[in-house]
Amino acid sequence: MQKNILILDFGSQYTQLIARRVRELNIYCEIKPYNKVPEDLSSFRATILSGSPSSVRSEDAPIPDLTQIKGKMPLLGVCYGAQHLVQYHGGKVEASNTREFGRAHLQNIIHDNPLFDGIHTNSQVWMSHSDSIKSLPKNVHRIASTEDVEMAAFQFNDEDTYGIQFHPEVYHTTDGLKLLENFLVRIAKVPQDWTPAKFVDETVERLKHEIGEDKVVLGLSGGVDSTVAAVLLNKAIGKNLYCIFVNNGLLRKYEFEDVLDQYKGMGLNVKGVDASQKFYKALQDVKDPELKRKRIGNAFIEVFDDEAHQIEDVKFLAQGTIYPDVIESVSVNGPSVTIKSHHNVGGLPDYMKLKVVEPLRMLFKDEVRRVGKELGISPLLIGRHPFPGPGLAIRILEDITPEKVNILQDVDYIFIQALREWDLYDKVWQAGAMLLPVHSVGVMGDERTYEKVVALRAVESTDGMTADWVDLPYKFLQSVSNKIINQVKGVNRVVYDISSKPPSTIEWE
Ligand code: XMP
Repeated sequence: MQKNILILDFGSQYTQLIARRVRELNIYCEIKPYNKVPEDLSSFRATILSGSPSSVRSEDAPIPDLTQIKGKMPLLGVCYGAQHLVQYHGGKVEASNTREFGRAHLQNIIHDNPLFDGIHTNSQVWMSHSDSIKSLPKNVHRIASTEDVEMAAFQFNDEDTYGIQFHPEVYHTTDGLKLLENFLVRIAKVPQDWTPAKFVDETVERLKHEIGEDKVVLGLSGGVDSTVAAVLLNKAIGKNLYCIFVNNGLLRKYEFEDVLDQYKGMGLNVKGVDASQKFYKALQDVKDPELKRKRIGNAFIEVFDDEAHQIEDVKFLAQGTIYPDVIESVSVNGPSVTIKSHHNVGGLPDYMKLKVVEPLRMLFKDEVRRVGKELGISPLLIGRHPFPGPGLAIRILEDITPEKVNILQDVDYIFIQALREWDLYDKVWQAGAMLLPVHSVGVMGDERTYEKVVALRAVESTDGMTADWVDLPYKFLQSVSNKIINQVKGVNRVVYDISSKPPSTIEWE
């Protein structure tokens, strides 16, 4: 069985980052809410307690049940996790009156402690807490300090239970990954064998077992997640996988034909369904962004449902859901569990009664890409920018008509092609164009024009949660703008969006 690390989440913004770091070490891990410790812990080799926005001193502080964990397997408390261990076992945690936010430097390291193997005095760490440990429980000793924090790290005597008040998972902690490696590999002795190849082998075996001879239907979107999910399933069950790729009329130019060809080239059993007119009809006169999303979601379900019903005896619905969509996050006040629905598929009507299979539900986006590479999917497909489910509809800032879609497709195509030609495509996380609901005056030859304005957007990001606009070269923007105005009828002005997220968003609607 897969050897596994348990991460108990107390609601910190950094919990997912801990998991990513552990996976970077090729070690598998799972995040669970602090109050849902699995009953069967036999596959877990070590536990990490995350940070939290709560204070251990508050009345409703989240308190985990560690009876089956502490002293029974290696345990590392991070920030709140460390403070909880101290307070629970008789030490003292108080509001801090010194600066304990930002960069600090390790001192008084007990160098023969395995947690600090290869980590030197003055190594930079990142602090982010307003409480501080004032005294340790009797059976606990200090193993490092910083200039302002005496109990920066500690260990329970004769036990592999550790606590650190800084955050090893954030980039600013220079030796953070080393410290996690020391804990997981040196102390917990977990093998570093969780690789994309291993994931593929195990998942294909599991899918074969789970699905057997049954039929599975999957909606392909052209994006990385659904593509990787489809290729994995194809490897497991071959022709029993029925893929449906819907053209909603809101895709990029040539996208439907190109991607469909690529899918067929990959041996996928895929049916392309051109439902553009149905979507245009559903969107007629709709201006409100949320209503656009709703109408598109409903139309998609209808089309998909129709198609799925044509496959006899289908038993499973496969989805490209990934880990950030399913992590159960806990609120400060307790176990309020929120699960994001997968917005590209939107959920199917209950009466379909299909069992859901989600082969990527434990992977982060970058891991999905690594798995895709392992499966031999073309780098062109794997490296594609994210594209929203509602497509160009949320980039046309007014009602949708096929003519407006055509204009925006042409503009977008020139922009994206140019990014590729200038070798900028892979340096940008996501790019696209918006058709604005304004006309501007221009001159072409001797004639006055009164035409549309488009905005170009290119952002850098890691997960879409925050983003920065990309400083594209002026020469590039100049060339793209000229091409758009010369070649796309109906557009006489191009602007570039220089807003970050937050406070703006990536899409304009
Ligand atoms: P925002 O505009 O919220 O976008 O900064 C963040 C990321 O999410 C994508 N996005 C969507 N994806 N359905 C989707 O499948 C949607 O309704 C939707 N809205 C935004 C956006 O393209 C960006 O990658």
